[in-house]
Amino acid sequence: MPITVSSSATAPDKVVADLLAVPVYAAARKGGKPVLGAGCDVVNRALGGGLMRFIDEAGFEGKPGETLAVPTNGKLAAKAAILIGVGEAKKGTLDGLRRAAAELTKKSHTVGTVATTLLDVTPDGVDRAASAQAVTEGALLGAYRFDTYKSEPKPSKLKKVVLLGKSSAAVSAAVKRGQVIAGAVAWSRNLQNEPALVKPPEVIAKLTQQLMRGKGVTVKVFDEAQLESMGCGGIVGVGQGSEQRPCLVQMSYKPKGATATLALVGKGVVFDTGGISIKPADGMDAMKTDMSGAAAVIAAMSTLQALGVKCNVVGFAPLVENMPSGTAIRPGDVLRHRNGKTSEVLNTDAEGRLILADALALAVEAKADAIIDVATLTGACVVALGEKIAGLMGNNDKWNAEVRRAADEVGESVWPLPLPPEYEKMIESPVADIQNIGGRWGGALTAGLFLQHFVSDTPWVHLDIAGPSRAPSAEGYVQKGGTGFSVRTLVEVAETFTKPKK
Ligand code: BES
Ligand code: MN
Ligand code: ZN
Repeated sequence: MPITVSSSATAPDKVVADLLAVPVYAAARKGGKPVLGAGCDVVNRALGGGLMRFIDEAGFEGKPGETLAVPTNGKLAAKAAILIGVGEAKKGTLDGLRRAAAELTKKSHTVGTVATTLLDVTPDGVDRAASAQAVTEGALLGAYRFDTYKSEPKPSKLKKVVLLGKSSAAVSAAVKRGQVIAGAVAWSRNLQNEPALVKPPEVIAKLTQQLMRGKGVTVKVFDEAQLESMGCGGIVGVGQGSEQRPCLVQMSYKPKGATATLALVGKGVVFDTGGISIKPADGMDAMKTDMSGAAAVIAAMSTLQALGVKCNVVGFAPLVENMPSGTAIRPGDVLRHRNGKTSEVLNTDAEGRLILADALALAVEAKADAIIDVATLTGACVVALGEKIAGLMGNNDKWNAEVRRAADEVGESVWPLPLPPEYEKMIESPVADIQNIGGRWGGALTAGLFLQHFVSDTPWVHLDIAGPSRAPSAEGYVQKGGTGFSVRTLVEVAETFTKPKK
């Protein structure tokens, strides 16, 4: 049920729609009155001047995400009207717009067409096109549902969102970009939410090939035998306990004239039982989203051509299922990775770093100017930063700052964590070059330190998305389940990428 978003300069009182949605700001001072936003004047007229009184009686404050249906006495071309709280006028942000737009589509799931003046809320210093993109993203992601397995799905009836007010070529283009990006996030969410039963590594590889058709991205899939001969002992080792064969998906986008190359690497564990170091039963179902990093990288790659990205982007998605079985790797086994380094597997549940090791080494070989890896890597990172914030680690301050800027720009929360050289000792192995677990403490950092052994001196950022990759409940434009976290950050980085200084 795709929703189309379009812009139109039709006046709010003239627009034919099922619902007219208009913004209301919260009072700037405590005890003050909410402030009517664009389009509220026509609703007020329909009410014979009684809108403020209605707002007052309903106790509506204009807080972000608050909504209030108001009567219109049949006096507008739109059948009904709704107020959307957008918070204090001076405190508006693009992400606030995204969330307001999500409320709008959530509240209008019973109607076909909604028209809104939300674009006129454009925060100070932000251009209208950026707002249009944010509103489009929020509207579409707010409407996202995963109901593939419901015998009686209750799909949203909403078909059309019309953004009212001054339009321009830039606004229309921004709406299209928003649609492309929201579509990619939804693709990532869908794959995350699918049960592991239907997404073994080879299926994800096929889905990737299908997705990239006509999108300017070439896809190569390396099977187990090839990985073996390539020396990717981490991917082969983690994959060997499962009936489902592991593979590696390599994607490349090479626009004409590009010189800089960005590499994206995503952890693709289609299900993480822990392997022989098996996880407790409680909550293990969540490990179907242990391929969130891979999903984000694949989804981001699918947008590059449509967005006109000018740099080369190579993507790597190592895909495995981590299972305990008679063929599984055991604690104490030693694996040899693509760059020749060996790791001692002291805990088979620390599998993400083992497969990323090979993929990161390949990214270095692909002569990437900079690398970002995205992985649901450690519970320790969730302990440190909670469920909404990703940990950001890296070996190059400028590149760290650039990825952080991009995440902030798109409203995905990341926070820097260190890679302390003094903790290297924690992953020294008595038998191999390194071991795959540190001690009891600092688990997100020792995981990051492990990965660092495979990136050479290429500027590299590691995003541990174990927390924000899934949401325990719906909020704003995020739905319960897979969130598609980091897709928008990766896209933002790619759109602005130039060679970083080492
Ligand atoms: N996939 C998990 C990490 C994870 C935990 C993701 C919670 C999402 C939510 C990862 O493979 C894992 O099991 N990590 C272990 C590492 C430990 C054995 C060193 C962990 O965090 O407990
Ligand atoms: Mn694990
Ligand atoms: Zn895992």
